[in-house]
Amino acid sequence: MTWRMAVSALVFMALAGTALAQGDAIAERRAGLKRMGAHMDAIKPVADARGDVKALEPRVDDMIAWFRTLPQRFPPGSDRGDTKAQPAVWSDRAGFEAANARMLGQLEVLKTAAAAGDSAGFVTAFQATGPQFCGSCHRTFRAR
Ligand code: HEC
Repeated sequence: MTWRMAVSALVFMALAGTALAQGDAIAERRAGLKRMGAHMDAIKPVADARGDVKALEPRVDDMIAWFRTLPQRFPPGSDRGDTKAQPAVWSDRAGFEAANARMLGQLEVLKTAAAAGDSAGFVTAFQATGPQFCGSCHRTFRAR
C-alpha cells in the first residue's frame, strides 16, 4: 500500500478508536447515573420512615465519590451517540460544573447528618436533594 493509504488507514483507526472510547464514556456515565438513581430509591423509604440514617452513609459516600468524577465523564465529542446530554454541557461548562459542585455540597450535608445519626436533619436535606440538586442540573443539561 502507498504511504497515503497507510496514513488514511491510521487516521481511520484513530477516529474509530475515539468513537468507541466516547461510546464507552456514554455507556459508563449512564450506568453510573442509574446507580445514583438506585441509591436515591434505596434511601427514600429509610428517610420516609425516619429510619437508621447512619446505615445510609456508605451509599452517600459512593455518591460523593462518583459525582466527583462526573465532569470528566462528559469529554468533548461524547455529545453524539446514545445520550440525552444537552449541548449546554459543553457550551456552558462552567454552569455544568457549578451545578455539580452544588450537588457535591448537598451530598456533604447528607453525609454529615448520616454520620451523626441525625435523622431529622438527614430527612430535610434528602427531601431537597432530588428536586433541587439532581433536578436543577437535569432541567438545564439533560434532554427529556
Ligand atoms: C451536574 C449535572 C447533573 C447532576 C447534578 C445530576 N445529573 Fe443525572 N444526568 C445528567 C445528565 C447530563 C444526564 C444525561 C446523561 C446521558 O444521557 O449521557 C443525566 C442522566 C441521569 C439518569 C438517566 C441515566 C440513563 O441513561 O438511564 C439518571 C437515572 C440520573 N441522571 C440520576 C441522577 C440523580 C439521582 C442525581 C442526583 C443524586 C443526578 N442524576 C444528578 C446530569 C446531572
